[in-house]
Amino acid sequence: MVPGSNPGGIASVPTDPPRDCVLCPRLVDLRRDLQGQHPDWFNAPVPSFGDADPGLLIVGLAPGLRGANRTGRPFTGDYAGDLLYETMLEFGFASGVYEARPDDSLVLHQAMITNAVRCLPPENKPVGAEVKACRPYLLATLDANPSIRAILALGRIAHDTFLTTFGLKKSLFPFSHGGRHELGVRNLTLFDSYHCSRYNTNTGRLTAEMFKSVFADIRTLIPRP
Ligand code: URA
Repeated sequence: MVPGSNPGGIASVPTDPPRDCVLCPRLVDLRRDLQGQHPDWFNAPVPSFGDADPGLLIVGLAPGLRGANRTGRPFTGDYAGDLLYETMLEFGFASGVYEARPDDSLVLHQAMITNAVRCLPPENKPVGAEVKACRPYLLATLDANPSIRAILALGRIAHDTFLTTFGLKKSLFPFSHGGRHELGVRNLTLFDSYHCSRYNTNTGRLTAEMFKSVFADIRTLIPRP
């Protein structure tokens, strides 16, 4: 198999799962419970969000309960989004005003955001089978956006699913905050950051300065227009 090829056939997988995706029984159960409890929430696989011609693809973990799962836009409405969008605005990957709702004026530039798993997992922890089931959508997203040159993996799970997507050895590309890996596939560079979660920032594992330094590095590959 050619590294980076889509053995399932490019045309066969859409870039986003259908609203009623049934691939992961645990996630379907949770979704149906929440549809009953909060009929006004999005409660479905969250589609990618961003520029139609992105140079950068940011890969998060999975929607948050009261964030993307409620609003329907990645990282929108929870703490992780506050730091992510503030940083993207500072580095020119976004403009407008982020107001934690999908109808605010925020627009992304040269960037798209997606998640390794598109549905809300219990306790924010997807299991391996769920990451695997969602991987074709990650690959389809890349296939549909050949302008992507940089991937920012927010956390180890996003990093690992990316390597697995292309059959690359984890031992050759170890995850580390600030890590930068030339993958040798599709001219892609993988950047690593600790996830911008409230837990990581509260514990001091990730500071705003550490997060900014990753974006500064990405800007050396994807310059401002
Ligand atoms: N919201 C998302 O969409 N993804 C994450 O990884 C965290 C919060």
